[in-house]
Amino acid sequence: MRKTSIAALGVACALAVASLAKVRIFGYWWENPLPYQTIPQGLSSLSAAQCGVCHLEIYQEWKASVHAHALSDRQFQAEMAKEPTAAWLCLNCHTPLENQLATVAVGVKNGSTHQPILKKNPGFDRALSEEGVTCAVCHLRDGVVMGPWGDSRAPHPVRKDPTLINEENCASCHQATARYTDILVCTFDTANEWRESSYAREGRSCTHCHMPAVKRPVAVGGPVRTSRRHLFFGSKIPKERLLSEAEWRSYDLYSSGLSVEIAGDKVVLKNAGAGHLLPTGDPERFILVKAELVDAAGRVVARRVHRIGQRWEWSPKARKLGDNRLKPLEERVLTLPANKDAVRVRVLVENWRISDQNAAYHKLGDDYPRFAVVIQTEKQLH
Ligand code: HEC
Ligand code: HEC
Ligand code: HEC
Ligand code: HEC
Ligand code: HEC
Repeated sequence: MRKTSIAALGVACALAVASLAKVRIFGYWWENPLPYQTIPQGLSSLSAAQCGVCHLEIYQEWKASVHAHALSDRQFQAEMAKEPTAAWLCLNCHTPLENQLATVAVGVKNGSTHQPILKKNPGFDRALSEEGVTCAVCHLRDGVVMGPWGDSRAPHPVRKDPTLINEENCASCHQATARYTDILVCTFDTANEWRESSYAREGRSCTHCHMPAVKRPVAVGGPVRTSRRHLFFGSKIPKERLLSEAEWRSYDLYSSGLSVEIAGDKVVLKNAGAGHLLPTGDPERFILVKAELVDAAGRVVARRVHRIGQRWEWSPKARKLGDNRLKPLEERVLTLPANKDAVRVRVLVENWRISDQNAAYHKLGDDYPRFAVVIQTEKQLH
């Protein structure tokens, strides 16, 4: 059983620059928090709720996103509780601003992630910490709000940040491969997967798919501009079942990565929409394709279940045992068993973030959303 799932990064990134690297194990930016941020002139707090007074729609979208749950997530909490001495490293990505940390690691003993020297942080802002990957994490540097334009008539200072829209911002957390101990490994390769895809060559980066453009006022009462959705949907597995009807419906904005085509006794699967391996990111993610042959009376007479994902062994030493994920635009054909009674083929696709077994191991509770049905389709055989 794996103990942790860390992500890591291998590229120079926008987020990293200003950090005064105090801890140095391998030299990755997340060994230190992002620098302390002061409240920009014209604002009274850094909190997302405060930004949301003016940027209402963006705030509502972000609040439904997994970024807003990066600290509160039950699995994250369970994993940190099991490895409390390494929690400081996790928090540097899940609540990255120094303001969001109750204690800050100022060094480690013996080069070990598990022997941090922790100092109490007088500037700790608990409410901001609970917001996880909050607005200020992506948008605030040196008391200035970094935006796509830098020309806004805003009540706060603004500056154009060309790295916000490209993959660098996202990659800083979503690209991470490193081995800290035998069982503490970072395994996220999303940005490298994307770099090798045709999407990268065409200049379609993470934000093009995960933050689709929409024309609307960016701030309440402001002019209509080209804005971007802040839902950051991917697998479409919600973190908590707290979304309103309207928010649930907005899921239709995004198609799944997988496409399914039924052709006779063949089911053609394709990574038609994801700009990286499918699934990407957390090694515990997997996709289940359930194909069923149904007879005239509606009974299931044959079934084929196909799992797409990685397989890891976490103890005594983390190592990858298998990986059958689909590359961008890669196709895979499943052949169904022959059956003379079958008249219809039915296919169901489920995205899973964690297996039932691992969720039980972490005591996440039966109501913790572990999967989502993303495709349901069927076709007559003849
Ligand atoms: C380099 C940044 C980084 C570090 C360090 C990091 N994480 Fe994460 N974590 C991420 C990103 C990015 C994701 C989202 C990836 C995904 O959903 O596939 C994530 C997702 C998760 C999830 C949710 C997985 C899911 O499928 O919902 C858990 C739980 C988690 N991390 C635990 C940890 C723990 C525990 C540590 C410390 C041992 C840690 N992380 C350290 C970046 C990081
Ligand atoms: C009192 C209202 C108000 C608050 C509070 C507020 N903003 Fe703004 N913000 C605006 C207005 C108005 C604009 C200009 C919008 C336009 O140009 O259409 C703006 C513009 C922006 C831009 C675009 C900047 C550019 O020109 O590229 C970003 C990014 C932004 N705000 C982020 C934030 C964040 C993050 C917070 C919270 C820390 C925040 N704002 C708080 C009113 C506000
Ligand atoms: C400061 C670190 C950080 C940055 C920067 C960041 N992310 Fe994330 N992202 C996370 C973490 C942590 C999670 C997982 C939270 C959880 O599962 O609780 C996550 C989850 C996601 C997911 C998960 C979807 C799912 O299916 O669950 C998507 C998609 C995503 N991020 C896209 C992006 C994009 C696009 C960008 C760049 C605009 C970005 N992220 C920037 C840390 C970050
Ligand atoms: C994971 C990083 C991330 C987080 C968290 C985030 N944003 Fe953004 N934001 C972006 C990116 C990327 C863009 C688009 C930049 C571009 O178009 O060039 C953007 C654009 C904006 C803009 C400009 C108008 C638009 O819609 O493109 C505003 C205003 C804004 N964000 C406000 C917020 C507020 C308020 C929050 C919190 C409630 C927030 N953002 C959280 C990454 C983030
Ligand atoms: C061509 C569009 C596209 C691009 C480019 C893209 N993604 Fe995705 N991404 C998707 C789709 C579609 C999904 C949903 C996959 C599914 O159905 O599970 C997804 C899923 C994810 C997930 C959740 C894990 C999963 O596989 O479901 C994360 C995390 C993520 N993307 C991060 C990123 C990051 C970071 C980048 C940039 C380096 C990026 N994506 C570039 C389309 C894209």
